[in-house]
Order: sequence, then structure tokens, then C-alpha cells
Amino acid sequence: MTTTIPIVQSVRLTADGSGVVILDQTLLPGQKKYETLSTPEAVFDAIIHLKVRGAPAIGIAAAYGVYLGLNQSTYAHIDEARVAFQRVKAYLGSSRPTAVNLFWALERMEKRFERVEDVRLVAEALRDEAEQIRLEDERVCEAIGVHALELLEPGDGILTHCNAGTIATAKYGTALAPIYLGEEQGYNFKVFADETRPLLQGARLTAWELSEAGVDVTLICDSMASIVMSEGKIQAVLVGCDRVAANGDTANKIGTSAVAILAKHYGIPFYVCAPTSTIDLACETGADIEIEERAAEEITSKWYEEPMAPAGVKTYNPAFDVTSGDLITAIVTENGVVRGDYFRELKTVVGER
Ligand code: MRU
Repeated sequence: MTTTIPIVQSVRLTADGSGVVILDQTLLPGQKKYETLSTPEAVFDAIIHLKVRGAPAIGIAAAYGVYLGLNQSTYAHIDEARVAFQRVKAYLGSSRPTAVNLFWALERMEKRFERVEDVRLVAEALRDEAEQIRLEDERVCEAIGVHALELLEPGDGILTHCNAGTIATAKYGTALAPIYLGEEQGYNFKVFADETRPLLQGARLTAWELSEAGVDVTLICDSMASIVMSEGKIQAVLVGCDRVAANGDTANKIGTSAVAILAKHYGIPFYVCAPTSTIDLACETGADIEIEERAAEEITSKWYEEPMAPAGVKTYNPAFDVTSGDLITAIVTENGVVRGDYFRELKTVVGER
């Protein structure tokens, strides 16, 4: 994308390859602060605390984390390096369970490791693979943007949930990529960003990055999605995803399925933007997707000066939900737009791995 729009990059390697620079997303929108991570432990911590978040960005960070785990040590033999590799792979793979990009990236790193014969070349190969994963994600997001833009009309009102923007990926985002592309081409979209309780990715991140880029964005509470739809302000819903099952059921940020149900009620197309790295054909249906549960304090007190719930109240804080494939108008991938029989079409779009 030859863009004139200021697009933020949230994860990259330092020039000397000794660390990974991340934009700390927990501090946005108040502070735009970058942090350099130089160990797998620091990467793990950044993922689990959502300094790096969004399915593709998590995968990229984990790939760099594996490289950082092996670039400092010297191994006498490839088997010794393999033991270290497997340890760091398992460790980073235990950070968050739902976004399949994490596991996809770790598998790719393993395949690359297994192609290395000379132990002295392991670190270089892992660095190269992690870089390729990041660069590929840029191209993938751009292609998603091109395909998704074909589904939209100038002036459309677009509702989005959570943050599937540039900071959740290598660049451009998935659900927000067509919005950036459209902005450049004078589409003048009117974006409505759900605040996305409880961690406010919509308010803190989507509203921030779109405002920075000069896109017309209006922040609403999650509970307001129905009224903006009923008022005719929304012509399409665009969301990202963390894992797409073989039948098209899709896990994304908690609250996404409610938006899909509303969109169906109001006859508004509901599009999921999904890099093929997010499609998990090994999961037959959404019921096979593990849903992360997070700490109670995210609901009870995190954003408040005083706790907003009685002490010790029972809580339930699933971070994602599954939108049934039959509520999804189309899934937009880098390889094209998939509709109808997801079970058949997703296989075609994923191709050989
Ligand atoms: O918990 P998060 O903030 O990592 O959840 C992120 C989402 O649910 C995004 O919508 C998804 O990862 C797609 S990012 C292109």
C-alpha cells in the first residue's frame, strides 16, 4: 500500500537483531511508548499482559521470541539446540490459548529449525524466518484490505469491534486495512468503534489509531451497537478474528457474536477479515476452540478509581466468544473472499501448508 496515511508499526526487530521493539499497547492512548524486549521471558510477559496483542502480532512476537531464545547461546550440536528450541517453543506457546497465529508461527519456526543442518546457522535461520513472518503479514493485510474494499461503498458506515488494526498486525490491520485503503481513495467511511469491554481495545486502540490516521471514527459503548444499526448508520460490520474453525465458526474478542446476531437482525452484512494463518482446519467447529479466561479484576476494578463490583463477587471473564459461521456473510482472506459452504471453501483458500 503506497500510503500517505501515518500507519503505526507495533512490532519489529532492532537493527542489530538483539531485541524486539514493541509498542506497549497497555499504555495507549495516553502514552505512545516503545519497549525493547531481549529475552523470551520478556516476550512472554508482553504477550500475557497484552502489551503485544491481536492474533497476527502475537504470532510475530512469539517468532521473534524463539529467535531471541537461541541467538545468545552457542550449541555444540544440533540436538542440543533442538532441546533449547523445544523448550522455548513450549514456553511461548503457553502464553495465550485462543489466537491460533501464535501456534502457527511457532510451527513455522520449528519447520525452519528442522531444515538447518549446521548448528552455527540456527540463530540466523530463525531470525530470517521471524522476519519473513512479519513481512508476509504486511502483504497479507494489504491483500485483505484490497479484497474487503470491494465489498464496501463510498460513505458507508462501518461498525468494528475490538482492535483489528495496524497495531494488532505487522501493518495495516485486517478489519481496518480496507478502511485505510478506502481513506486514501476518498471513500470517506464513517467508522463506529465499539468500546469493547472489559479491556477497551475499541476505545483505547481502534479509536486512537483511526483518529491518528485522520479517519472519521465515532466511539460507542458495546450496548449501543443495536441503536446505531437501527438508525441506519451502519452498512457493514468488519471484525478480525483469533481462530476460524473448519466450518467457519470464528472466535474473536468477547462480544463479537452479539454484534453478529444484531447484524443479522438488521440485515447488515457481517464480514470477518482473516489471514489464512488464522484458519485452523484442525478445529472442526467453534466448540473445539479454547477460550481464554482472564482475571476478575479486569471486570471489577481495572479502569475505575474505586471497584465497581462488590468485593468477592463471582465473576466470569471469557476473553473471546465464537460467532457461528451461519451469521458470517463472508470471510475475507488474503487469497480471496469466502462465502457459503465454509467447510469446502476454507480448504481451498488455505491450500497446501
Ligand atoms: O485480547 P486481544 O486484544 O489480543 O484480542 C484481539 C482480538 O480479538 C482481535 O480482534 C483479533 O486478534 C484480530 S487482530 C487482527
